[in-house]
Amino acid sequence: MEKVKRFGVSIEQNLLKKFDNYIKTGKYKNRSEAIRDLIRENFVNNSWEDSSKLVAGAIVIVYDHHKRELLDNIVDIQHDYQNFIISSQHIHLDHHNCMEIIVVKGIMGKLTELEALLKATKGIKHTTFAKSTLGDEI
Ligand code: NI
Repeated sequence: MEKVKRFGVSIEQNLLKKFDNYIKTGKYKNRSEAIRDLIRENFVNNSWEDSSKLVAGAIVIVYDHHKRELLDNIVDIQHDYQNFIISSQHIHLDHHNCMEIIVVKGIMGKLTELEALLKATKGIKHTTFAKSTLGDEI
């Protein structure tokens, strides 16, 4: 296990109060755990600001599969970006709606390009992008 270092933090009383309330939501056991998580989160978010950075994530789309043209467009786009798609999972949500989880890895600029193309596809009801990390900067 990696060696853990302790350090002191000076913080305004009001800000600390807000931080402790945030911790109390039940998500964290203590301040240290919360600070570590916030630092990691910040590093991951920063890596998504550099369009040449290698990153990973998942694009989730919801659409009506009865719209045949839409289905062709989604498949065409995914074939164009096949080098950046690790896998995709199709879930039949109900009679009309399908969800597709597209796991992506590659340079950030290409992944956001793919997301934008899917988002702009007529008929897609919702698109969301979980931006994660390859784990090397945290
Ligand atoms: Ni389906």
